[in-house]
Amino acid sequence: MTKSNTGSFTLTDNQTGKSYDLPVLHASVGPNVVDVRKFYAQTDHFTYDPGFTSTGSCESGLTYIDGDKGILLHRGYRIEDLAANCSFLEVAHLLLNGDLPNKEQKAKFDHDVTYHTMVHEQLSNFYRGFRRDAHPMAILCGVVGALSAFYHDSTDINDEHARMVASFRLIAKMPTLAAMAYKYSIGQPFNYPKNNLGYAENFLHMMFSVPAEEYEMNPVLAKAMDRLFILHADHEQNASTSTVRLAGSSGANPFACIAAGIASLWGPAHGGANEAVLTMLNEIGHKDNIKEYIAKAKDKDDPFRLMGFGHRVYKNYDPRAKVMQESCHEVLEILGVDDPLLELAMELEKIALEDPYFVDRKLFPNVDFYSGIVLKAMGFPTSMFTVLFAVARTTGWVAQWKESIEDPQAKIGRPRQLYTGPTERPFVPLDKR
Ligand code: SDX
Repeated sequence: MTKSNTGSFTLTDNQTGKSYDLPVLHASVGPNVVDVRKFYAQTDHFTYDPGFTSTGSCESGLTYIDGDKGILLHRGYRIEDLAANCSFLEVAHLLLNGDLPNKEQKAKFDHDVTYHTMVHEQLSNFYRGFRRDAHPMAILCGVVGALSAFYHDSTDINDEHARMVASFRLIAKMPTLAAMAYKYSIGQPFNYPKNNLGYAENFLHMMFSVPAEEYEMNPVLAKAMDRLFILHADHEQNASTSTVRLAGSSGANPFACIAAGIASLWGPAHGGANEAVLTMLNEIGHKDNIKEYIAKAKDKDDPFRLMGFGHRVYKNYDPRAKVMQESCHEVLEILGVDDPLLELAMELEKIALEDPYFVDRKLFPNVDFYSGIVLKAMGFPTSMFTVLFAVARTTGWVAQWKESIEDPQAKIGRPRQLYTGPTERPFVPLDKR
């Protein structure tokens, strides 16, 4: 997949005066890369970049982010255009297959996902092993890992058809498993998926319908849910996606790899931020307290950070946050919900974006800043927010995993280190320590 390569960097080791030519690999858009694959063999040195702030871990054609301009493209299409005009499964098809589906391809893709939404009946036994108050992310992480026990014999990752089936199973079953985690936590019976419902509608049905009465689908909420899934579908080589790629590089079962991604996403610095934003807004409570919390966020001795703000890549407004804010207003208006937290969030954003600390560090609202308010208005408990992120991001994880497995340059990921521990020393027997 590598583009034509021209140009190089020359690096001089001032300790020896030796120079090394490092080839440049060209991107189709965005930064080119300096190829350091032979760097250790040539120089006996490792490069060093904890947190991968300046390191490309792979070649990919799925998602491009321009952090300075606040641009997000999936296979070249702007996230704003996809969110306004597509269904989530059209975006899933785009990420998995490289282009938006035509009518026939869309119908087949929707059918293939729909007919994989049920889970093995035995899987429901796993839920009963969890405490009632278990966090749904803990349950999801465990149950998705358990899926590898149900499909171990049919997931030959070297077989293209098996990879596609595993992809459909994961995308299709995640909403079912997520809804089951919620139902278990509130002591209500699990709902089976319905094949006559769309992806987001099916999820809302499994989440909120009860056997005692007919569930009335709100088409506006279903559209808002579908749009929210689109906004969370994929995001280049973020922490959880890199986790999935690294796990997959050893040839591990894809269900186990996605469980690893769920674990990484859960952290409050990553996908757990949407839950943390709601907790933070409730803690701030009133706009009169905003200045105190802004001061805490700026205080290096205070671990508090403004949740939903800042991003490793975006040094401009996260384009997803803009769409999310619009969706927020639309959903709250339709539902007739007057949530003071929305006004508080907007006031917090206004004050932060006028503060030099945030302006100088280019800290803007990210995708998590408004998502929690929409989800709360739609009836989701805070504990389910990151679960919803995982449901949507499964499509990106699966597409990235599939791309990594199909990459002809694929090899097991094995970073090195800067070792600063003790040098070799003689062993000391116990009676002499
Ligand atoms: C997601 O990677 C992705 O693509 C992730 C994601 C995706 O779709 O997969 O976009 C989803 O994870 C969004 C991010 C959600 N997390 C949060 O909202 C948590 C709050 N944000 C911060 O924890 C932080 O901004 C990170 C983790 C998102 C990014 O951290 P970086 O890139 O490591 O930046 P940094 O910690 O080096 O911050 C640079 C400076 C530091 O100050 P100085 O040392 O320069 O003085 O900015 C400060 C930080 O202290 N800073 C903040 C801040 N974020 C950064 N200060 C206060 N509040 C914040 N939120």
